[in-house]
Amino acid sequence: MALKRVMVLTGGGDCPGLNAVIRGIVKRASQTTDWEVVGCVESFNGVLREPTEIIELDEKRVEGLQIQGGTILGTTNKGGPFAWPVRQPDGSWTTVDRSDEMLRKLSYIGVDAVINIGGDGSQRISLGLYEKGLNIVGVPKTIDNDLSMTDYTFGFQTAVQICTDAIDKLVTTAASHNRVFILEVMGRDAGWIALHSAIAGGADVCLIPEIPYDIDRVKEKIAQRYDKRRGYCIIVVAEGAKPRGGSVTGAVSDEVGYQHIKLGGVGEQLAADLKAAGVEHDIRYTILGHLQRGGTPIAFDRVLASEFGVRAMEFVMDGRFGQMVAYHHPDIVGIPLAEAVRTQNLVSPDSRLVHTAKGLGIAFGD
Ligand code: F6P
Repeated sequence: MALKRVMVLTGGGDCPGLNAVIRGIVKRASQTTDWEVVGCVESFNGVLREPTEIIELDEKRVEGLQIQGGTILGTTNKGGPFAWPVRQPDGSWTTVDRSDEMLRKLSYIGVDAVINIGGDGSQRISLGLYEKGLNIVGVPKTIDNDLSMTDYTFGFQTAVQICTDAIDKLVTTAASHNRVFILEVMGRDAGWIALHSAIAGGADVCLIPEIPYDIDRVKEKIAQRYDKRRGYCIIVVAEGAKPRGGSVTGAVSDEVGYQHIKLGGVGEQLAADLKAAGVEHDIRYTILGHLQRGGTPIAFDRVLASEFGVRAMEFVMDGRFGQMVAYHHPDIVGIPLAEAVRTQNLVSPDSRLVHTAKGLGIAFGD
């Protein structure tokens, strides 16, 4: 009997644990006699480009990969089969829908099923392709933990650990200099990384996209942390946080196909606003940026990513297409793709964790 072929790809921003998912898929497939695994380079671009870039993935190739950060397949958060960027004669860019052409190519190269590891944007592409008849299974990926249909995504806990380690370091220097320290962390729409690391690191202020802040309330909290000139204050701010009545700090990207606002700089802005509001203590800010996405996944994320990989392959073997694997403690379940991308997982101001943080004296500027 001819081998069936499953193609795996990674889309969107990278995230620790992607390689562990790929390894899980390949290892599970290698226990069968009828499936082989190939990888598509740089999300769907490997099929859309000429010549195509599809690589064979066998057990040897994925050996030890659970430790490795990034993705061996490469990734992109620009374009895709439904919005492929094309330069026009006048030099400007437009997008074209290449999904039908891509489906024809997939069938030509003998792909029977696809596993798409990616965030909400990638899973919207999965849904669009599934509706056009592709056998596809989604695996959720987001450092921000903003996908609503899974308790956690891999990579998130690693990012939280990196931010917590950073807070631990900032505390000693802040205390030595009686400074206010602002740590800017990732979190475009959801403040989960900021909230978890603020609690774990013992921060004094946590500013998140879901709770617009009042600069005077932040100033009040800083004042509480000082006895005249002595004291220090740690503020964790998510990149998507904004002042009450204000907007996020960032810029429109000039990168072709990049559809998000490029966030960044809220920490610097906050430092300036606090000075302008009359805070006289020294203020410093640190932007953790992509350090949160790089490097080795912590054990929790390796386990979750491996579970997702093994289960996604089993979904393919069982013909459970149009689903995204998800973690609903204590199980790994299947969620229809249409449901999986419907809403975001945002921090509710009334949630248990915000309550806990407030119980610890953490201020949200509300
Ligand atoms: O969505 C995940 C995320 O890490 C955001 O928190 C961040 O704004 C964005 O990706 C940055 O991605 P990149 O710089 O890779 O485009």
